[in-house]
Amino acid sequence: MAPSFCGVWDYPSNSYRNRGFELKLLVTGGAGFIGSNFIRYVLAQHRRYSIRNLDKLTYSGNLHTLRDVAKNRRHTFVRGDIGDRRKVQEVLKGVDAVVHFAAESHVDRSILDSTAFVKTNVLGTQCLLDAARQAGVKRFVLVGTDEVYGSAPSGEKFTEETLLAPNSPYAASKAGADLLARAYFRTYRFPVIITRCTNNYGPYQYPEKFIPLIITRAVQGENVPVYGDGLQVRDWIHVMDHCAGLDAALHKGREGEIYNLGAGNEWPNLAIARRILQLIGKPESLLTYVQDRPGHDRRYALNSDKACKELLWAPQITLEDGLKQTVDWYLSNGEWIRRVTARAYRSYYRRQYDRRDSMLAEVLNRRGKR
Ligand code: NAD
Ligand code: TYD
Repeated sequence: MAPSFCGVWDYPSNSYRNRGFELKLLVTGGAGFIGSNFIRYVLAQHRRYSIRNLDKLTYSGNLHTLRDVAKNRRHTFVRGDIGDRRKVQEVLKGVDAVVHFAAESHVDRSILDSTAFVKTNVLGTQCLLDAARQAGVKRFVLVGTDEVYGSAPSGEKFTEETLLAPNSPYAASKAGADLLARAYFRTYRFPVIITRCTNNYGPYQYPEKFIPLIITRAVQGENVPVYGDGLQVRDWIHVMDHCAGLDAALHKGREGEIYNLGAGNEWPNLAIARRILQLIGKPESLLTYVQDRPGHDRRYALNSDKACKELLWAPQITLEDGLKQTVDWYLSNGEWIRRVTARAYRSYYRRQYDRRDSMLAEVLNRRGKR
């Protein structure tokens, strides 16, 4: 029997474990950081759900990330692009619900070149929305970000009603996806639910992002780049708390609604970096201040009251426990790190950091050149 998705599922507590219903889920971007963790979460929580995982395997998607679920009969991997209409139509056959993660996800890369961001995050999402609507999908969760709101003034937290003011090409492309999804509900009554989550950390995050970058470099005794004064504030959420929020949105969210998913863990970057160095037993002298990211948002902060009230969701993992667990994971998964930081990663790192000043000068002065 398939679930009705009308908010009638009655969960006894904050646990969403379900053994009764069968459901065919399409997860996009499931070979990446959050998507792969979500697949693990769903396979464990919902014993009769099956998942089709559509992923293009860009630099940040890796089959090695999925090795523990590769043989699970309820998970099928399909390599493909969310912007490939025919492929998307094919994988949507028989699918009840979509959870859409696939994206270009790194702000620094979007500053170097935003082409892939617009292609995947905006046009790819539009292709997926159209095909899902045609296929009669009953629920579509768009995995969005708090970065669409821009930088939060001190003392304020963004609610779902705050106007969008994205500052990076990445955030602008995610705002495009988010607004398209909203429009598909308003125009076609397509059953979309939008989530906007804060900065995630945890296992399987590609080491270009701040926390895994610090861990993987510090372990090798290499310097840790801190942008500007390092006092930018992020609200860090453990990826499993995000997955629980997405699961709750999928099952309990109201169609056409937006849910902020924050953790209330606001920390300056410098404090995070120092704590990680302590956990690994490395000196603070590894911290290296480098030129700031252009358009760098000073602070992200979310009000998640709506998700707590309507989805009965609340983050469970403290930052201290989560950081310890994450550091341990990276220390015990050297083989995964080696595989995902092959040549392409090293050349990206050299471009982004070793020649940072000249690289940024070139990007910022690239007027009229092509
Ligand atoms: P990630 O870069 O680790 O993973 C992205 C995945 O999408 C990769 O497996 C990649 O191969 C795949 N992909 C990229 N382009 C594709 C395409 N055209 N077709 C199919 N697959 C494609 O990113 P992540 O950190 O796991 O983020 C997942 C989603 O969550 C994104 O939509 C991101 O905007 C959102 N999000 C991330 C965070 C965060 O802190 N990481 C916070 C809030 C929201
Ligand atoms: P990041 O992980 O790229 O996430 P986002 O830009 O989406 O918030 O960066 C998190 C914070 O860490 C952000 O304020 C930028 C900062 N940062 C550094 O200081 N040094 C780095 O090398 C990176 C990658 C990020």
